Amino acid sequence: MKIGVLKENKAGEQRVAIIPSTVSALTKKGYSFFVQKNAGHASNYLDNLYVEAGATIVEKNEVFKCDIIAKVSSPTKEEIELLNNNCLLISLFQTIKNIELVKELQNAKCSAFSLNLLPRTTLAQKMDILSSQANIAGYKSVLIGANHIGKYMPLLMTAAGTISPSRVLVIGAGVAGLQAIATAKRLGAQVQAFDVRPEVKEQVESLGAKFVEVENDSDDGVGSGGYAKETSDAYKLRQQEAMKERISKSDLVITTALIPNRPAPVLILKEMVEAMKPGSVIMDLASENGGNCELTKADEIVYHNNVLIDGNTNFPSTMATDASQLFSKNIQAIIEHCHGEDGFKLNKEDQIIDGMLFIENGEIRHQPTKEAL
Ligand code: NAI
Repeated sequence: MKIGVLKENKAGEQRVAIIPSTVSALTKKGYSFFVQKNAGHASNYLDNLYVEAGATIVEKNEVFKCDIIAKVSSPTKEEIELLNNNCLLISLFQTIKNIELVKELQNAKCSAFSLNLLPRTTLAQKMDILSSQANIAGYKSVLIGANHIGKYMPLLMTAAGTISPSRVLVIGAGVAGLQAIATAKRLGAQVQAFDVRPEVKEQVESLGAKFVEVENDSDDGVGSGGYAKETSDAYKLRQQEAMKERISKSDLVITTALIPNRPAPVLILKEMVEAMKPGSVIMDLASENGGNCELTKADEIVYHNNVLIDGNTNFPSTMATDASQLFSKNIQAIIEHCHGEDGFKLNKEDQIIDGMLFIENGEIRHQPTKEAL
């Protein structure tokens, strides 16, 4: 079984899907690797390291002769045209958002895993790329946010006077949010956090942050499987009231609110930004799905009055060495999960494989994608 590793071609993408340690681990299981020249250069995994691990460095066209092709971001139309119809493509792929590319995969009669569709179950944890990358986004958004504000994060007592600690508000306390809370606390900030799911209160408090409560007399906003669902209009108004005052007092607001398969909920309105202190910052992690702030623009830094809103959609890429290591470990776990006594096999009875395999030999298997077509 040949595994190909492509060099990323999306602007700003520095990660690589497979690093040399995965090459050596899977080579021992009988896989052979064909890595596009300089695929790991931007993340500091140089070609000689891949060769030492047992891979062959090739030109791009050679990668497309492999049985499995791994990539971080979704493929381009031109890349899909180069795929052979027996190959399995593994990448981050938002099927409904990229429906035109799904049509191209249908024409090419390909099979593909969407890493976005991996079920977030206990068994799948070691394969969970969304979590490993969201963790990085939570961490890095605080560091970049701290860089944007013209203030210290911790309390500081100096001969020239006392500096009060920065106030950080984290909205959405899932994977990214909890890491953002932990990072801001480590830097010495005063941290408050909010989530529609009351069960995260304990986790927020165990990290030393204050949980903001919004009056909720039902299970408004609480979805299944540890996810949120859309809240009622009445709840939204109560949430906005509670947020408005806290946002206006914050130096740094990190928003990570996500409802699966829905546009990001808009939680910070223009007038709330206008009530913020000059010099304060919003890091909107939900920017790729429209943003939690009304004024966010994906992959842009927007200034409104004196408030900076950062809509970076790819914080993990700013930490490409570790992000690639985790991404690669997750892919390795996926390949090992598919590897049985007879080698690599797509067992569709398996919940994890069934979840990710959205297209098989050109046939769409994922119902919401089928409906979107
Ligand atoms: P998650 O599902 O673990 O957490 C999302 C949290 O938002 C949940 O705890 C949920 O209860 C909460 N939430 C939903 N609606 C809410 C509302 N109205 N008010 C308050 N909280 C609400 O998701 P994860 O993995 O932490 O990702 C968070 C966001 O970060 C996603 O939008 C994801 O796409 C994004 N992300 C961004 C990256 C970047 O570089 N910009 C990189 C990785 C992830």
